[in-house]
Amino acid sequence: MRKKNNMMKKRFVLYALAGFCAFNLSKAQTYPQIVVNNQRFSDWNKDGKLQPYEDTRLSDYERINDLISRLSVDDKIHLLLGTGMVGFEMLKGFEAIDPKGVTIPSYLIPGSAGSTTPIDKWGVPAVIFTDGPAGVRISYKRKGETRTYYATGFPVGALISTTWDTELAKEVGNAIGDEALKYGSDIQLAPALNIIRNPLCGRNFEYFSEDPLIAGKFASAITQGIQKNGVGVSLKHFAANNSENNRMDLDVHLSQRALREIYLRGFEIAVKESNPATIMSSYNKINGTYTSASYDLLTTILRHEWGFKGAVITDWFGGYADVSAISDTSHDGISKDSYDEDIFAKQLHAGNDLLMPGTQVQFETLKKYIETKRLSIEDVNNCLRNVLEMIYKSPRVAGYVPTNNPDLKSHALLSRKAASEGMVLLKNEQGALPLNKGSKIALFGSGSYNIIAGGTGSGNVNKAYVISLPKGLEDNGYVIDKNLNQTYSQFVKEELAKTEELKKKLLAILPTLTQPTIKEKAIQNSAKENDIAIITIGREAGESGDRKIPDDFDLSEKEQNLISEVSKAFHQQNKKVVVIINSGSAIETSSWKDKVDAIVWASLPGQEGGYAITDVLSGAVNPSGKLTQTLPVKYTDVSSSSNFDGVPAEKPTDVSYKEGIYVGYRYFNTFNVIPSYEFGYGLSYTKFDYSEPVLSSAEFNQKLLISLKVKNTGSVEGKEVVQLYLSTPKGNIDKPSKELKGFAKTRVLKPGETQVVFFELQPKDLASFNPLASAWIADAGIYKIEFNSSLTNTKQVSNFTLPNKLIVEKVNNVLNNDLNFQDLKSNR
Ligand code: BGC
Repeated sequence: MRKKNNMMKKRFVLYALAGFCAFNLSKAQTYPQIVVNNQRFSDWNKDGKLQPYEDTRLSDYERINDLISRLSVDDKIHLLLGTGMVGFEMLKGFEAIDPKGVTIPSYLIPGSAGSTTPIDKWGVPAVIFTDGPAGVRISYKRKGETRTYYATGFPVGALISTTWDTELAKEVGNAIGDEALKYGSDIQLAPALNIIRNPLCGRNFEYFSEDPLIAGKFASAITQGIQKNGVGVSLKHFAANNSENNRMDLDVHLSQRALREIYLRGFEIAVKESNPATIMSSYNKINGTYTSASYDLLTTILRHEWGFKGAVITDWFGGYADVSAISDTSHDGISKDSYDEDIFAKQLHAGNDLLMPGTQVQFETLKKYIETKRLSIEDVNNCLRNVLEMIYKSPRVAGYVPTNNPDLKSHALLSRKAASEGMVLLKNEQGALPLNKGSKIALFGSGSYNIIAGGTGSGNVNKAYVISLPKGLEDNGYVIDKNLNQTYSQFVKEELAKTEELKKKLLAILPTLTQPTIKEKAIQNSAKENDIAIITIGREAGESGDRKIPDDFDLSEKEQNLISEVSKAFHQQNKKVVVIINSGSAIETSSWKDKVDAIVWASLPGQEGGYAITDVLSGAVNPSGKLTQTLPVKYTDVSSSSNFDGVPAEKPTDVSYKEGIYVGYRYFNTFNVIPSYEFGYGLSYTKFDYSEPVLSSAEFNQKLLISLKVKNTGSVEGKEVVQLYLSTPKGNIDKPSKELKGFAKTRVLKPGETQVVFFELQPKDLASFNPLASAWIADAGIYKIEFNSSLTNTKQVSNFTLPNKLIVEKVNNVLNNDLNFQDLKSNR
């Protein structure tokens, strides 16, 4: 008890110190008594003298250096390791943990992902990490309390990006940051910005796009929003973590060019534009080295080239090859086969400052490595500096006391707004949508009765509710077919009951709901009695497993039959059929899209799903979302379809990104493979015209400014997304046919209204990465700019000249492909 009191007391030291700042003290030698959290500062500093590390008038840098000079080796190692993880208690054992098993700091916020280790003697508190990205992941219940701690379930990253609205993304980030702060989190483990390389990756829903500009811009917007609250982010997973199967032991082989242009570029943009507090290294290896142990990645590129100033943290148990050996609670430690003893020292040396969630094995190994000088104290101190800076900047150290009362009502409205903004209208024949007011609706498909708000795993938010589609429609004056409602609701209830046990598992991936058999007669009757049919196709996905082709990417036979039969019956009655796709990742659409009249890509829309979908269906919100991932005709059309998650198939250890830079639309467009719905695609209930663009100069000189007018030429108000694609002149390396280099979304334009949108091109936008020169090079010649409403829907064209070849940036020749295969070439 005494020990615990002492611990609590010391933990407040930094709160108290931070309080001094607020009082804007002069350099007086005596200090007023400051009351922070009902504790008096003088309780701990009876002599009234501050040591440099305690003195908040000094810079963090000075304080941290002083503290480091006083810390014991044990203290240092503790600070470089988290305190363990709830559910993995057998791995703890740090002195920060009450030996009776009472408290590890992350227990203070149940459901959080972990924390740093507090060192009470030095007044260093634990900072808490909570998961995301779609909201703050904490438990909604706490032992012995009746109140709840729900967080808002926002739309997933894959939907935030389809808004093409970075200001809105900032607003969402700000709301998430506010909830994180108020619930006592210091670092929100978000945003996630890996590239959507292939539709089967189980975590695509968390990610933004197949395009690095979109990934970088949205990660940067979310980061700015979250960090406005004083809470830090963790950009994840750095880098090339594009599949889930055997993710902890997967070696990703790829060329330096693909790495730099596709898989690192989004991180580079976000680091340079938004100054993230932390970055989370990924589980996988790149060209033979764990990313968490890669000096080239974490120090040479991230810190030296990009100027990253924050802390790098591992993904949870990153560096262990086999987490199943760890999660086997029957043995009281970690199987030796699940890690290589050198790895932890290598991680710190590489610049991976904090190992999460922290294990006793790591503590012992690092101690041994320091003692035997296999890990230098300089490496340790460098990491410590970054970790301590992260801690010193945290809300906890600033004295923030969690209020636990975020404004969930206003955040729910924001969640709804963002969700409806990101929904993409893929098809709308003969004005099938918007729905007529008060329509009678036949709701088909299990998915219509179980809107999937987000994915499973660490990205799942414990939200208070998910608005169902029937509720969304009924609350807005539509009438739902009662018989169908009854049949489906009963079926869905029974099916969901079967997954109750599975749901309790940390990383459970839920099966997609099957379909009940609806008799032909019942479908025909419903076609007579209702005005329109809506069918929802839903897809579950989650962390730790990838999707599959049959009954997942492809529709199941029952789903196909349902679409055919409902379309036939409703068309016979001259009535329309609408399909809603409730998936964060691509599914096959081309085999059935001609049968139906309208299709809405609703993605995974968060807790307000039913309302947000209704807003788009009703026309209350004119759809303005556009795809940020290509929907291929068939799976085998995807450039990585034959080498998606690697070899051997069962438990892949190696994957070769042989498609090189030709990921997503860069492949489809350059190789003339026609997709079902292309990148950037999305319809509106109105139409837009673009005026001729105005360029600041016909020749590129340092930068180019462009403006263009967008006019709403239709009959209802709406927003347009203008996409700028650039085609570069031929050089001596392969080039994609075009690449997205800018985008702008208008405000709501009334019919006839015009808005000017602006773009800016920087030298790097013109450049490709040339591995032979280790440089980003822009070739001399004519650059063509397209102003498009989607990848190939070109509204205006312009061009400019770059008179001389430009070496935009010379970089280090690191992280080369260790297997030396040739990337796919277009010879363009
Ligand atoms: C995930 C991370 C997550 C971490 C902490 C890992 O399994 O890959 O995205 O932040 O767990 O929960």
